[in-house]
Order: sequence, then C-alpha cells, then structure tokens
Amino acid sequence: AKTHYHGFIVRQTRVTRLCKTHNSITVNGQFPGPTLEINNGDSLVVKVVNKAKYNVTIHWHGAKQTRTAWADGPEFITQCPIRPGRSYTYRFTISGQEGTLWWHAHSSWLRATVYGAIVIHPKQGDSYPFSKPNHESVITLGQWWDANPIDVIREATRTGGAPNISNAYTINGQPGDLYKCSSNDTVRVPVRSGETNLIRVINAALNQQLFFKIANHKLTVVGADASYVKPFNTSVLMLGPGQTTDVLIKGDQKPGRYYIAARAYASAQGAPFDNTTTTAILEYKTAKGASSKPLMPSLPRFNDTNTATAFTTSFRSPGQAQVPKTLDENLFITAGLGINKCPPKAKASHCQAPNRTRFTASMNNVSFVLPSNFSLLQAHHHGIPGVFTTDFPATPPVTFDYTGNVSRSLWQPTRGTKVYKLKYGAKVQVVLQGTNIFTAENHPIHLHGYDFYVVAEGFGNFNPKTDTSKFNLVDPPLRNTVSLPVNGWAVIRFVANNPGTWIMHCHLDVHIGWGLATVFLVDNGVGHLETLQPPPKDLPVC
Ligand code: C2O
Repeated sequence: AKTHYHGFIVRQTRVTRLCKTHNSITVNGQFPGPTLEINNGDSLVVKVVNKAKYNVTIHWHGAKQTRTAWADGPEFITQCPIRPGRSYTYRFTISGQEGTLWWHAHSSWLRATVYGAIVIHPKQGDSYPFSKPNHESVITLGQWWDANPIDVIREATRTGGAPNISNAYTINGQPGDLYKCSSNDTVRVPVRSGETNLIRVINAALNQQLFFKIANHKLTVVGADASYVKPFNTSVLMLGPGQTTDVLIKGDQKPGRYYIAARAYASAQGAPFDNTTTTAILEYKTAKGASSKPLMPSLPRFNDTNTATAFTTSFRSPGQAQVPKTLDENLFITAGLGINKCPPKAKASHCQAPNRTRFTASMNNVSFVLPSNFSLLQAHHHGIPGVFTTDFPATPPVTFDYTGNVSRSLWQPTRGTKVYKLKYGAKVQVVLQGTNIFTAENHPIHLHGYDFYVVAEGFGNFNPKTDTSKFNLVDPPLRNTVSLPVNGWAVIRFVANNPGTWIMHCHLDVHIGWGLATVFLVDNGVGHLETLQPPPKDLPVC
C-alpha cells in the first residue's frame, strides 16, 4: 500500500460562470478541486493551508476513519475550524472500500465550491468484479449561485426564510450549454464504439436530489458510496446529496453526440423549478467535430417519486452481507422541519417563515446546536465538561402521526448539543422517520465514521408490527447516505466499532444549518484494544 501526499491551498480564486466573474473559494485555484486517486488500502496525507478569509475544514465524505476520528473534518464535531492563515494535516487510510467517494468543506456553505472526487481503485494486484472498463470518468454534480454562497446562507439564517434558488446546476463545475455563456466549457466525455466506460457520478449539490440520465444509453449500476453492488440495469439514476453511484455504459449506439443530463427531484413542495437541469456531452470519437445537436434524454419530472423509489430500492449487496442480525440498540429518530418563534423585537424581515417565525429543523425534536469553544471530540477526549450533554433521546419525546396532519404544538423543537452514547461494538438499528411537521421534505441522511446497511424503506409511518417483515437481512446495500423518502422512513443497521464523535445529519446544507443532526459518541473505554489514536499535534484549537 502507498501513502499519497497532497497540499490543499484553500484560497480565493476568480471563477467565471454564467457571464459573470466571482471571487470563489477553491482548493489550489481549481473548481471543482483536485481528484484524489488511490488504491484500496492506501493512505492519504493532505496538508490543508487556509489562505481564505473564512474558517474552513475538509471532510472526506464516506471515508470510515477507523481509529482516526481526528481526521474526519466536520467543524466543532471532530476539530475546531482551520482559521485563516493556519493549516492542518489530515492523515487517514482507506481500507476495505472501493469505488467513489468525495471530499468537501464542512464549514458553513463553503462546500458550494470546495469539493472534489476521491477515486478508489481495487487493492494493488486486485481487479474489478466486472470486466475492466476501457475508459473511466468522474461526473460531479453541483449547484451554482450568482451570489456568494456564504452570503446566501447567512441571509437564510438571518431572515429565517428559505435560501434563494441557485442559478444553475453543474457537471464538473460547468452548467453546460443550456445556460448562457457556458457552451464552450461544456464537459465532454469521450466514448469509442464497442468500448465500455466506467462513469463515477457524485451528487455534490448543496440542497437538491438529482435524477441522472444519458440519452439512448443503458446504465449498469456496479457500485455506490464506495461499495460494490449486485449489478443492475436502469435508464435513470437518482442521487441524494452526498451519494455516489458508479455505472458502466457501452458505446453501442450510432456514433454521435448524446447529452448526459441531471435534473432536480423533489425539492420543497411548491418551490420554483427554474434552472434545474445541467448537461454534459457524451461524444463518440468517430463523431468528433460533428456539429449536430446532441440528443437530449427525457428526464423524469421533479415529482416522479415512483421512478426514484424504483431506483433506490434496486440496490443489493453483491454477496451475503455482514448485517447485524441481533440488536443492542434500537433507536427511532424523526427527521423533519419546524419553526421557531421570532424574538419579540426582531424585525419582520428577520422572520420570513409563516406567521412571523423562523425555519428550523430537528431530530427527535432536538435542533442540534454546534458547540463553539471546543470540538465534541476534544471535549470528550480531554474530559472538558459543559460542551455537550448525553441525553439525546432514543425515541421521539411524544408519539404522533408523523406523516399526517401534525398538531401545531409539535412544530417547535428544543435546541441543544445533545449526543447519544453508543457502547463500542454495539449492534445498532436506527429507524429514521420523516415527519410532516410544517411540511414534508426529503432528507438525505448521512452518517460519519461508518457505512451502514439499508435494510428497508417505505412511505408513511414506520409500523414495527408489519414493517419488520420487509427487512432484507440477507443482501441489503451498504451506504453512507440514505435518501429518506418524502413522508417516509428508512431502517439502517451498523456495528459501532469505530470510536469517536460521529455526526449524523441531513445532507441538504440548509437543513444541517437549521439543526437536522445528532451525534453518536462511541466510547472505546480506557485501555481498549481499538482505542482512538491521540490527537495530532497540529489539531486546530478554537
Ligand atoms: Cu458530506 Cu457531514 O458530510
């Protein structure tokens, strides 16, 4: 196994999109940032130097960080932010994962422009569990704002309203030729007749689930979130923010140009759907220079839940899965929106949710508040009191009809930095239940520090009497992010065998900002064999 050394300089860079030039925050002046290419079993050493005017941290989304929680990256969870002018070196090993992951800033909305791909090839000497593709490419889906994304989130937080709609969706940072001033830079993916391409698709958009399709070409799904899956064919993918999907495509169509396209799926009900499609071009080598207009795939409509569900429920592990069959912990966690009363003297413009309120979000009726003086991991490791409490509830404080007409008295969550303690090695099940508090929304729920099995999902209220019979304990897929259906539920299982403080949150950035998160504190116990490594010397302090 190899160790790969990288330098990431986070700095302001001039980026031109949609006819306008912006000062965007990038890594090494690149947008999207550099792709890290490694083999399963390799280690990464990434020195991040902050030359921007904002605090920053980098998260290696989906990297399990076994015993290296200090390198996970979410600000105030495993580290304090890297302040302007400072640096921090992330050191970790990727082991037992093959496929595609990605990295992104985990600080305010910086990840709008601070992200890149992590490509994990098979272990040295191993090969893919499918025939070797002739060509590989990465397609990273993103979201672009004409305004500074940091100002957009600040405004949303200040006014308590929904953030403004992005101006474009992007493929590898480019809106594509359906947008003004964008056609020259449209991403092109080459293909040769008769050959096979492996395409790694990443949803790095801040706040949007996306459908993905290539005109006329069948997609064979072979992996997701850096785990292989039992291959299946589909014409369309649906990815929640945070998720990755690896597909094989064959150059079996008439040589020509075909659009690769992604479009928004299931945003807040009633939200406008302008600027919701992005394109790249799949180009047959022999057709190069052809000026013909590429063929556009017909994408599912934004509310096509049947297509989305058919896709998300098609995933299976390739073999027998190591899913825990017995449980030490069985949690029931709601995920939903809510509203907070506005302070009596606040200006009307600061209270733009209905009836002079501000939007908020919660898990089990707790809006997660990040600490500010210490990270949770530092506080835990050094025994610093008063930073968090361990009373995050294992079930919602009251039982109600989660997906029905929720009584207004249940709309207002409490605020707190509450974590849930898991014993090292515990076999854990979490029933994630979406709620219709204020409104129903999708929630891509991401857990740090672990992959988990998605053993079932469905709509309405989870019913332990009837729904447990639907559990797949044989070959459920391994994921790090599950798209909780709108007004629905999902059940995940994992073994808590990685010590640390691990945030589980909605990967819609606006929801995490509103508190849709909780933290598992997995305690290794003094002297335990699998103890957490000591904090690195350069770990940032607050
Ligand atoms: Cu991809 Cu907590 O993040």
